[in-house]
Amino acid sequence: MMISTRVVYGLLLCGLLHVLSAEPKSHISVVLVGATGDLAKKYLWQGLFQSYSKQVGGTHSLSFYGGTRLSSSEASPVMYEILKGLSCLPNVPSVKCALLKDQFLKLTQYHQLDTHQDYSALNKKIEEVLDQEGLREEGRLFYLSVPAFAYADIATKINATCRPREESWLRVVLEKPFGHDLHSAQQLAEELRKVLREEEMYRIDHYLGKQAIAHILPFRHDNQHSLNPIWNQHHIERVEIVMKETVDSKGRTSFYEQYGVICDVIQNHLTEILTFVAMETPANISDSEEIHRNKMKVYASLERLGKRSAVIGQYQAYNSEVRQELQKAAEYTSTIPTFAGVAMFLDSPQWDNVPFILTAGKALDERVGYTRILFKTKAFCLQNESTRKAEFSQCRQRQIIFYVGHGDLNFPAILVSKNLFKPVMDTSSWKQVTEFPDVQMFGLPLSDYYIYTPVMQKDAYAVLIPQIFQAKRDCFVNTEDLLASWKVWTPLLKEFSNVSPRIYPGGARNGDMLDFKVEGKTVSFTRSDPMAIISESPSHQTVSEYKAIASTFRGNTLVSAVTEDLIAKLASYLQQTAQDAVREHGNFHLAVSGGSSPKDLFRRLAAHHYTFPWKRTHFWMVDERCVPLDDPKSNFRSLHDNLLKDLKVPYVNIHPMPVHMNQRLCVEDDRGAGLYANEIEMLVNGTSFDFVLLGVGADGHTASLFPNSQALTLERNLVLFTESPVKPHQRMTLSLRAINKAKHVAVLITGRSKHPIVGTLSKEGEKSEKWPITMVQPSGGELVWFINHDALFG
Ligand code: BG6
Repeated sequence: MMISTRVVYGLLLCGLLHVLSAEPKSHISVVLVGATGDLAKKYLWQGLFQSYSKQVGGTHSLSFYGGTRLSSSEASPVMYEILKGLSCLPNVPSVKCALLKDQFLKLTQYHQLDTHQDYSALNKKIEEVLDQEGLREEGRLFYLSVPAFAYADIATKINATCRPREESWLRVVLEKPFGHDLHSAQQLAEELRKVLREEEMYRIDHYLGKQAIAHILPFRHDNQHSLNPIWNQHHIERVEIVMKETVDSKGRTSFYEQYGVICDVIQNHLTEILTFVAMETPANISDSEEIHRNKMKVYASLERLGKRSAVIGQYQAYNSEVRQELQKAAEYTSTIPTFAGVAMFLDSPQWDNVPFILTAGKALDERVGYTRILFKTKAFCLQNESTRKAEFSQCRQRQIIFYVGHGDLNFPAILVSKNLFKPVMDTSSWKQVTEFPDVQMFGLPLSDYYIYTPVMQKDAYAVLIPQIFQAKRDCFVNTEDLLASWKVWTPLLKEFSNVSPRIYPGGARNGDMLDFKVEGKTVSFTRSDPMAIISESPSHQTVSEYKAIASTFRGNTLVSAVTEDLIAKLASYLQQTAQDAVREHGNFHLAVSGGSSPKDLFRRLAAHHYTFPWKRTHFWMVDERCVPLDDPKSNFRSLHDNLLKDLKVPYVNIHPMPVHMNQRLCVEDDRGAGLYANEIEMLVNGTSFDFVLLGVGADGHTASLFPNSQALTLERNLVLFTESPVKPHQRMTLSLRAINKAKHVAVLITGRSKHPIVGTLSKEGEKSEKWPITMVQPSGGELVWFINHDALFG
């Protein structure tokens, strides 16, 4: 349809609606690049439509262009399908709504936007419309809903071909991510700066459009009288900024693997909220410049974040989702956190020692977002509070909550404890809630709070898009703000880049395993023992049920999980034992077996356990095949290739078994077994290894102790020669005596082929030479079984 017809139609419609009082004075062209994408479909077209609906009869007219890199025949039907699904605000009568929708559709057209020529053609089109209708151009808004890597290229094309006429503005809207650390954010900012001026860039952080968040500053401003005396370290205990999600990252792992929860939502959404809470109240709430200056002061006072400032987690299924979606190798282990809890502090007299706790995660037990300011309880309450007017008692907790939505309340709200003050609220946009669900909010009934909710609930984009038209820049993230935030987060990201996150099962089953505490300025999980998480089975609902169902195997602790999680748990257990041993007696004596099962463990240790006390660790072999040490079948070679080669361990701490002496293999006369026993006696305190890692063969053998072998009865020796039924037959092994003197013995069993022997072992409780592993019973130490799901469940 020709534009003249479109505009005439618009005028007719507006006349019909009795809302258009005069000819539009000026015109804005809105271009949505990425017009058929997910975000456009879910929010952007809807936000643009609502802005349009509000503007009908206002000071300017609008036209809309949707574009993608595809041709019109391919993409425009998809776009029009989206437009057909648009809806009006609930207060718009249906006839008016139908007319508005119809009109919006007629004002919107598809335009292919790929090459330089496409953008030139778009420019020509916009100019034609302006000329034909004799419209004065007010501005052009380009909304880039495309991956960030395309920003610079598109912005360059816009700059070269689509700048509006003089006196008119250009605004380019960008969606995060804006980099993944300070360096990449600086690079992107630099590229954009070449083609766009600062005031032309509108970086969206959609959390700033959540109604409860957008109202933090106005609320603080309107309630200065009550808040100013108490908005400080003397009265505030802590600030919690929380964004919990039940969804996981499935289908999005290519994005998530690059960003993780900190870059995805904490660096931006939650940090922006922190600045709103912590900044000086602006004298003029409409002054974007003043708000920006105050925000920058907050950034300048944020204390440096380090490893002790945070805890991180990863939901259990994440790694396999990554491996599947990104086609990673079987041993690939991601350290990307899907959960983080961080304590931030400000070096300022106002906020000294007040923790700002920022936390967010995927696959958590509920979807909820809130910012909670918890005040100190100053009252000393001698007597039980009377139930009459208890909500005004100073003995009750006092808090202000900016509730984003979902959760128990299920609507956006601002809650103020009645024992604080009755807030001043703008009643044109906020209404008091007097009837509420029978739920508790942080341990208190809702009747304890003054509760306000928006008169009209709006999606964040519907709040933010009109602000772009009004150039309300404080609702967006400018370059200085962005880089200041990355400067705060980059050191933490670096420190955590090699840290293994705590693995959590996801949903309600997480129980208390992600609870954390802030002591001084140090953050740690409240539960220190991730080992207590036992096997996963679909019917288990809570962590405590897990423990009850499958916590033991043959009377000892059982840890079971899918292989990679099992290995992660074993590695942490090993590290914990090593640290304890080093603390107690300066060294850690570890004896490892061969075979394929421990390889994954060795690799994980090499890749993730940088804080392992390697220099204090002595490596011993549980058993060895009588082959030269560089033979591919050598157990020592496997330890070397998968672990030792990547570590800095003193040479004298490495103790391969002397199977190759005088250029011959395992000859009794060379006394290799005796020599190894002597070395153990000399170096290992009381010949008691700190940790022995064993495997189990399908026949029940362990180390090189085979079923019904004589070696099982030799009680005096620490080291023995034995015979294996399979090649290479000759072996050297630690004896049962040496193994059973160990302080910790872990038996690692993985793979479906081991399911039958696991079944046998679970039934045959007694020790028997038929299954040598049953004879492993440390006399004073601890035995833990690490069995993966395949081996346990078949
Ligand atoms: C986005 C993140 O910014 O916010 C997503 O990239 C997250 O990972 C989303 O799921 C949550 O937004 P909302 O509005 O659903 O709370």
